[in-house]
Amino acid sequence: MKSHLSKVASLLLLSMGISGLTAQEAVKAHEFNVYVKDVGVPIQPTMYGVFFEDINFGADGGLYAELIKNRSFEFQSPLMGWTPFGDVAIREKSPCFERNPHYARLTYTNQVTKTGLDNEGFRGIGVKAGESYDLSLYARTVTNSPIRLRVELVDRNNDILETRWLEISGTAWSKYAVALTPADTEAKSRLRITMETPGAVDLEHISLFPAKTFNNRPNGMRADLGQALKDLKPGVFRFPGGCIVEGTTIETRYQWKNTVGPVENRPINLNRWNYTFPHKKFPDYYQSYGLGFFEYFQLSEDIGAEPLPVLNCGLSCQFENEGMDQHIPLDKLRPYIDDALDLIEFANGPTSTRWGKLRADMGHPAPFNLKLLAIGNEQWGPIYPERLELFVKAIREKYPEIKIIGSSGPNAEGDQFEYLWPEMRRLNVDLVDEHYYRSPEWFLANAGRYDAYDREGPKVFAGEYACHPHNRENSFLTALCEAAFMTGLERNADVVHLCTYAPLFAHADAWQWRPDLIWFDNLSLVKTPNYYVQQIYSLNAGTNVVPFLRGEEPVRGQDDLYASAAIDKRTNELILKIVNTGIRNRKLKLNIDGLSSGKHKGKQTLMHAADLEAKNTFSDPWRVIPVESSVEFDGSVLETSIQPLSFYTYRFDLR
Ligand code: AHR
Repeated sequence: MKSHLSKVASLLLLSMGISGLTAQEAVKAHEFNVYVKDVGVPIQPTMYGVFFEDINFGADGGLYAELIKNRSFEFQSPLMGWTPFGDVAIREKSPCFERNPHYARLTYTNQVTKTGLDNEGFRGIGVKAGESYDLSLYARTVTNSPIRLRVELVDRNNDILETRWLEISGTAWSKYAVALTPADTEAKSRLRITMETPGAVDLEHISLFPAKTFNNRPNGMRADLGQALKDLKPGVFRFPGGCIVEGTTIETRYQWKNTVGPVENRPINLNRWNYTFPHKKFPDYYQSYGLGFFEYFQLSEDIGAEPLPVLNCGLSCQFENEGMDQHIPLDKLRPYIDDALDLIEFANGPTSTRWGKLRADMGHPAPFNLKLLAIGNEQWGPIYPERLELFVKAIREKYPEIKIIGSSGPNAEGDQFEYLWPEMRRLNVDLVDEHYYRSPEWFLANAGRYDAYDREGPKVFAGEYACHPHNRENSFLTALCEAAFMTGLERNADVVHLCTYAPLFAHADAWQWRPDLIWFDNLSLVKTPNYYVQQIYSLNAGTNVVPFLRGEEPVRGQDDLYASAAIDKRTNELILKIVNTGIRNRKLKLNIDGLSSGKHKGKQTLMHAADLEAKNTFSDPWRVIPVESSVEFDGSVLETSIQPLSFYTYRFDLR
């Protein structure tokens, strides 16, 4: 019996009309013209970016390298994630951190068990043999006698991987730290703290970080996940969401001011993805905000991307609150607008200003050079532009240089979309965020989506998109359809200035939403075929579009072929992208007008899988990857044959 996906694949192939091809048509060369000298619109350096949201345990338990879950005992069940033994009580009297007041009091008299705490991490704690992990905690003794704590990493069989000790003394809160170096690699280890001295001790903000983080930042990101982002060479970095910006309620919305300053004192928040899907509940999913706005800006810098924060516009999630009054009245919107103005000051302001000083105190006196700001995520109806208008006015007045991004709602067409676009034009926003999670068929049919878009007014930010097959898996099918669709983004680079796939990350043991760009567990990661498509576009963006035509027409699906062309003025190269979504070889004849005679050497990058269902997995991460080879041709005509189900990129020196 055919699997669900292969049915989708057959449907796709049928929709491409391959069954009607005659043998003669199959061998006929498809002729195209590429006009190298007809240098078109610039491709924005920001064009291909990434969008990060804390979904699928993407931040805590994912990119943010902290290994302890509920490190400050602030979850609604304060011992969630911890297994206490002996006498452990949660208290908040005389706290160490005002905004995270709970701490654990451990009392050990003569219990056989002794007294202690055991943390399970995020579906385990991933540690690697011989690598160093920094354990830190805040502690005080209850009476003046010192307390010795044993700190251990244990594996899934309860065998000890590493043991160290801390001596706690004094009745005032102090920070203690020790490095742990496990003997073995383990994806699901636990941290255990045991009192060895009778008495009582208070413990707070118990943290375990790999010594090696991405770019060696303290309070940093997981090195492999950070590097995977950098390897995408993203032009823009959108954060922190998505729906979490809106919150399920206005109280649980994302408030950037709660995410800056010392990590220990950032008040935690529920993660709205912990209860969004009734069939996928994650009561232990919170936002520690250890990865907060300072870290987001710093990460943008570390991966070479323009930061693009998204702020709440005074509306909580409209999906979750249909028919309910979950919006801030216009006359009470001022604090929300101030949050936007203060954020710009935090990012760019001189260190003499309140928020610029905080940035400097956190370790970054130089401005972050923020240029883009989105107000609202997936909003709709008149309540959105009414609010956005007040933001636009205030931001334009104080910071006219900032580019403002508005929303076109959750759908890529339909009533809300049709209503919002003219509203965005009326408000004169710089870019409009469009979202589409759609079928393979939609992606192929929409490769020409932007060919006839209005060239005046706001530009497009394709802020969230992904091809969704019925089973919502990251197969080669989805990557191929995205590659085909993206030829249309590139061809229309005068209209589309930014695009970001969504969502970015998913923890293999704790995800809510798929497909996603990068899957990870506690030790490793898998780059999906979709990741490689994004990477190919980004590494081969070029600086200007040039025409790639079949007769007078763009190549947007005729005979299952999709194509775009660009030149890179910096390197003086021609870049061609060609996607064949059909199941037959295609002979191509490309007349490259403007190319000098003589030999042309270049590079070909090919993404191909014979099976549309092919996936990259933890056991087989390299199944669908780009393969590079060199190519050479004479004169200005490139004759080649391209495989079925394939995405080709060529780079040729123009000299
Ligand atoms: O990417 C997942 C979610 O999809 C985002 O949070 C939201 O903006 C969209 O509905």
